[in-house]
Amino acid sequence: MAQVRPGTLLERWAERRPTSAALSQRAQKVFPSGVTHDSRYMEPFPIYVTHAQGSRKWDVDGNEYVDYWSGHGALLLGHNHPAVCEATVEQAKKGTHYGACHELEIEWGELVQQIVPSAEKVKFFSSGTEATMMAMRLARAFTGKDKILKIQGHFHGWHDYATIAMSPPYDEPISKGIPKAIKETMVAVPFKDVAALRAALDANPDVAGVIMLAGGAGTEYLQQVRDITRERGVILIYDEVVTGFRYAPGGCQEYYGVVPDLTTMAKILAGGLPGGAIGGRADILSLFDFRDDPQWMRFGRINHPGTFNANPLSAAAGVACLKIVRDGATQRKATGTADRLRAEFDAVLQRRGVKGEIGGEVSLLAISFPEAKLKGRSFTHRFRMAMQVGGVDFNGASMIVSAVHSDADVARTVEAFDQAITLLQDDGAL
Ligand SMILES: Cc1ncc(COP(=O)(O)O)c(C=O)c1O
Repeated sequence: MAQVRPGTLLERWAERRPTSAALSQRAQKVFPSGVTHDSRYMEPFPIYVTHAQGSRKWDVDGNEYVDYWSGHGALLLGHNHPAVCEATVEQAKKGTHYGACHELEIEWGELVQQIVPSAEKVKFFSSGTEATMMAMRLARAFTGKDKILKIQGHFHGWHDYATIAMSPPYDEPISKGIPKAIKETMVAVPFKDVAALRAALDANPDVAGVIMLAGGAGTEYLQQVRDITRERGVILIYDEVVTGFRYAPGGCQEYYGVVPDLTTMAKILAGGLPGGAIGGRADILSLFDFRDDPQWMRFGRINHPGTFNANPLSAAAGVACLKIVRDGATQRKATGTADRLRAEFDAVLQRRGVKGEIGGEVSLLAISFPEAKLKGRSFTHRFRMAMQVGGVDFNGASMIVSAVHSDADVARTVEAFDQAITLLQDDGAL
């Protein structure tokens, strides 16, 4: 645990969070490094939250935060949106798992079909990780080829294939415990580099599919990738786990107007509960079909169990959420708020003469300080801490804006940002 020196940002932050400190001590005895998700790890300890509502959440010491984690991006409608909350609570009373088909799963799938341009057919999973893993398998099964091409640095969850080319050096997985053979099934190229993509596909005729994040890609590049993959019979997968239902109701494919063969979804899809999906070409998803053909059943199809696939609780939340987000107003509202935050943050930086980059697209806002004295995690933890002192929580590098962040939230956030600059400067971090 970092030393708490008197008068420092750390001291100011820690003295208001004694109960979180104590819970963290308890957590250390249960969980490795005390946390249950890598991004919740924070030095010297993370905050522990008791409840949340709308755009706000409260920690065990009674501190209130404007929340820009937004459920890791799942909560475009904020915490406990009344319609989603009511649908979930009502469903919980009727049962959380029937071990059977149910009408809500059909409604949920139909909504995905209506909203997401590529979704001729749909399959549900329990998470985004499961969806991207299965999308890769679908591409491999459909083409009979083994390799998947991904973009360097693009995150697709935590399964073995997704650990490849995540951070430099790109030829080393981001995690220990990945079989060498996995690496040989993956090829990676830089983002927005069409020549590199073409060269990699030339050198690897056994590429089954290209998986990528389409956010920030721009229509021209996406169209080029679409054309190149189509020419070669390579399956194009957009991972829209974050961007789906956020960039536009139909995600990046609607926003940029370029449609992939397969789309992976999660987060907003399930209205804040666990859930993932693939939407895509009917001929590709027919690999899940049951047929009266033993040869097909044993050697032709993809099997797909999964205890919590389309469970009634997630389906209820998902249906309630998608019915609200399908008309585009929520996305426009969230984007408008993010644009205001961008402008206000820029004004703070200008006024203070601090070099910073405020970017990101739509309702995803990215903040970085190229000349910060602390780097990497050391800086993001301090930045997070400084914003928490001002009553704002985020991951230290990006803010996920919801449709329920208000004018008062913007005002508090800008004030916290202004104060955070001073705190970070005084602390020697900036
Ligand atoms: C783009 C992207 N793909 C996949 C995933 C994995 O989703 P999950 O955390 O639901 O497994 C994430 C998670 O944040 C993600 O951001």
